Formats: sequence, C-alpha cells, structure tokens
Amino acid sequence: MGIKSGFTFWNLVFLLLVSYVQGFIYTCGGTLKGLNGTIESPGFPYGYPNGANCTWVIIAEERNRIQIVFQSFALEEEYDYLSLYDGHPHPANFRTRLTGFHLPPPVTSTKSVFSLRLTSDFAVSAHGFKVYYEELQSSSCGNPGVPPKGILSGTKFDVGDKIRYSCVTGYILDGHPQLTCIANSVNTASWDFPVPICRAEDACGGTMRGSSGMISSPNFPNEYHNNADCTWTIVAEPGDTISLIFTDFQMEEKYDYLEIEGSEPPTIWLSGMNIPPPIISNKNWLRLHFVTDSNHRYPGFSAPYQGIFN
Ligand SMILES: *[C@@H]1O[C@H](CO)[C@@H](O)[C@H](O)[C@H]1NC(C)=O
Ligand SMILES: *[C@@H]1O[C@H](CO)[C@@H](O)[C@H](O)[C@H]1NC(C)=O
Repeated sequence: MGIKSGFTFWNLVFLLLVSYVQGFIYTCGGTLKGLNGTIESPGFPYGYPNGANCTWVIIAEERNRIQIVFQSFALEEEYDYLSLYDGHPHPANFRTRLTGFHLPPPVTSTKSVFSLRLTSDFAVSAHGFKVYYEELQSSSCGNPGVPPKGILSGTKFDVGDKIRYSCVTGYILDGHPQLTCIANSVNTASWDFPVPICRAEDACGGTMRGSSGMISSPNFPNEYHNNADCTWTIVAEPGDTISLIFTDFQMEEKYDYLEIEGSEPPTIWLSGMNIPPPIISNKNWLRLHFVTDSNHRYPGFSAPYQGIFN
C-alpha cells in the first residue's frame, strides 16, 4: 500500500530528529480507503517516535463496517496509547484506549468509518503496532479473535456460519463454546455470544447463566486476597439484557479495580469506596474482571444481577 512505501526513509530521518528535540509533536497518519490493508505505527518494528500524535481514518463503503485485527502490539504501558474511535476521531466516538504489551482482540466498527490515534509521551518507546483492516459486508460478523490459551475452529464468519472454541490443556473455557453469526438488522450481523475466555483450572471467576444470581469478590464479606485476577461472564438468552446492581463496594482506590465490559461505555473501570450506579448491558452478556495488587485488602464487592426480557 501507498502508506507503507511513503513511510520508510523520511520516517527514519524524522525519528532521529524527533528523539533529540523534546517538545516537538510528531504528526502522521492519513485517510485510508479500499477493501483491506495494513497500518503500522511509524518506524515499526524499530520503535515509534516520542511526542507522536498520529491519526488514521479508515473509510469504508456506506453501509459496510470495518474490522481491525492486530498482528503486533507493544506500546509503553500507561504512557503511550492507541485510541480507537467508532467513527471520526471525535470524543463522542471514543471507544477504547489500548496500551501495554498484550495483543488486543479484533475490533469491529458499528459504522462505515473507524479511526485510530497513536499518542506517545516524551520518553521511552516500544515496537509499536501493526494492524490489518478489512471492510465487512453487512452480512459478515468478522473474525471474533482467539482468547489467550484458546483454540478457534472455523474459518468463515458470515451470517449462518458457526465456530467453536476450546482451550489448551490446563485451562477451562468460560462462556459459550459455540458461536453463530446472526443477522440482527440490515446493518449489524453479530455473534450471538461473546468470545469465551480460557482460565487456569484453579482460578476464580466463571460463567453465570440463568435469569438471576449474585456475583461477589472472593471471600466476600471478608477481605479479598492480594494478586487476585478473576473474570466472570454473565450470559443471558439472546435478545435479553442484564442489569447489575451493586449492594456493596469497597476496594483500594486505583490499585484494586473491577473492569466491566459489555455496557455503555464499552469498558468501565470501578474502584474506591463508593457504590457505583447500576449497570445495564448492551447485549445478552456482561463481563466482570476483578484485579487486585500485592497489598491492602478490603471486603470487595457484591452485586445481584438479573436478566431483562426485552
Ligand atoms: C487484501 O485481500 C486480498 C484478497 O483477500 C489479499 O490477497 C491481500 O493480501 C489483502 N491485502 C493485505 C494488505 O493484506
Ligand atoms: C492530536 O491531534 C489532534 C488534531 O489533529 C488534536 O485534536 C489532539 O488534541 C491532539 N492530541 C494530543 C494528545 O496532542
């Protein structure tokens, strides 16, 4: 693609310049059209510049959506970010912010425009990222990705196609093992269940089914343990939504947190001592990820959930 050949030489010159000039903002990016292609951070895989502010806007045919699949990802954790926007790069379209060294799962837009913005601080860099993007017809769900330690069987992702997940030995599948690509409306084919995750056999968390139940941090109402990492997935009937209402919430501000996926905004981080407002899922699932650091323990959280028939 044009962007790739355009980069190399001047990019390297810039990289060298920029690394010595503090306070200089390095801009790059561009507008991309076409059925598919790849985007690499400048200098990939030898490191992106400091002070980068690069925005790529991918524009698909009207009515199509865009899927991005990461092939490589390494950004200085908590200092450099890749922000994703479901549309043009305006705050109202902000979707998520990626950082660190784990390959993120594929992301699919809800509209025909999708944007990525790389911002880096003024010190330390990493390999950067490489991402493959593809236009999805309205009848395609796109590749849902493979969770860490997971195995995906199935290679077609269009309406009616089914795929199956399993885990490598020593790991247990949490979630629905089989996904079907279903047509919800003219413009949104999607998988009927979220991608399951693979957890170590003795880890906390799990899949919750049924119309109601309760999720609590380990040992609740006594103190949770240090270095906890628990993921729960609540799965309701297709078409239903889920409400989660906190009755207790106490954790070490900032260092211990509960991350919730599947609601609006798509990722919510909760921490501290205040009872958060109720959470309503967008679809028939919610995922809770509870993480604690190596010191200070509190009672944690407790929250009943209920499926809502729509
Ligand atoms: C775009 O898709 C075509 C057909 O599937 C494939 O041959 C080509 O390699 C893809 N382009 C990139 C940049 O991956
Ligand atoms: C990056 O550039 C955009 C405009 O191109 C601007 O709106 C945004 O504030 C910049 N972000 C940073 C972190 O400098």
